[in-house]
Amino acid sequence: MYLITGATGHVGGQLVEQLLAQGKKVRAFTRDKAKAARWGERVEVAVGDFSRPETVGQAAEGMEGVFLMNGASANERFREVALALRQAGVRRTVFLSSLAGDEFAIGRLHRHQEAALSEMGVPHVVLRPGMFMTNFYQWAGTAKSQGVVYNPMGSGRSAPIAAEDIAAVAAAVLVDGRTEAKPLELTGGELSSAAEQAQALAKVLGREIRCVDVPTDVAVKNMIEHGLPPAMASAAGESMEAVRDGRATFKTDTVERVLGRAPMTVEEWFRRNIRMFQ
Ligand SMILES: NC(=O)c1ccc[n+]([C@@H]2O[C@H](COP(=O)([O-])OP(=O)(O)OC[C@H]3O[C@@H](n4cnc5c(N)ncnc54)[C@H](OP(=O)(O)O)[C@@H]3O)[C@@H](O)[C@H]2O)c1
Repeated sequence: MYLITGATGHVGGQLVEQLLAQGKKVRAFTRDKAKAARWGERVEVAVGDFSRPETVGQAAEGMEGVFLMNGASANERFREVALALRQAGVRRTVFLSSLAGDEFAIGRLHRHQEAALSEMGVPHVVLRPGMFMTNFYQWAGTAKSQGVVYNPMGSGRSAPIAAEDIAAVAAAVLVDGRTEAKPLELTGGELSSAAEQAQALAKVLGREIRCVDVPTDVAVKNMIEHGLPPAMASAAGESMEAVRDGRATFKTDTVERVLGRAPMTVEEWFRRNIRMFQ
């Protein structure tokens, strides 16, 4: 059985589905049991909270492997979470980190957490994904109501990755027992600008979508107004600046190397999620 933290989130949710499809047993970790109701009897639910590290340790007892993501609201106790995993005797942990480097607050945070896992002696493999395609959900409201998406990244290009592909790599590591000394740096397979991504959305929708440039600070303010905690909105703003000035213009072949197939394209992602944008 595998313990999946962040099971109700984008990556963890996909990972639960993929493990179930492979006939594996899953224990879903959540603060709110009702959020895991979609799986019914198909998963075991462990109610807990990263801010109570002992709940992670208890949930990890007897597990073949653990998928660990970062509960951003409870970072200060991450070392204790790592210690709880070591004490539970977990032999394999996959940690969802970030491709963001040390120049970003979110990058420094994840590097500290990677270091904590090593220092606490938790056997683990690090996944460092770049920008998630799920960030496109931020376009849903205005794409629906105005036929417009607002773009704080100028003509900068990036290679966003689907949560399905991150989860598939996590499953390969957990189930096949792949060991990787180095972090697995994960991106999608194609570099594109926001204007090109908006074109992909327009093509799938079959109607025009205008891509309108906005300054990053306007986008950050907007995210805060929509309920994102200011620190997370500001971290997202830093990533957007990086795309804007070309620091995110690269891709890796890790998904293809691990899974033996190409990552999902932006167009395919919109096709699968088009109901959100109609
Ligand atoms: N978005 C990007 O472009 C990007 C890029 C690189 C890396 N990342 C990293 O990916 C991670 C986010 O992954 P995601 O998008 O899959 O997650 P998500 O959809 O944002 O979901 C958040 C998950 O975290 C769980 N959670 C939050 N606080 C918790 C706490 N105190 N205790 C236990 N669980 C808690 C929630 O579980 P419950 O609500 O059920 O308790 C939920 O399942 C972050 O570490 C982020 O830095 C994101």
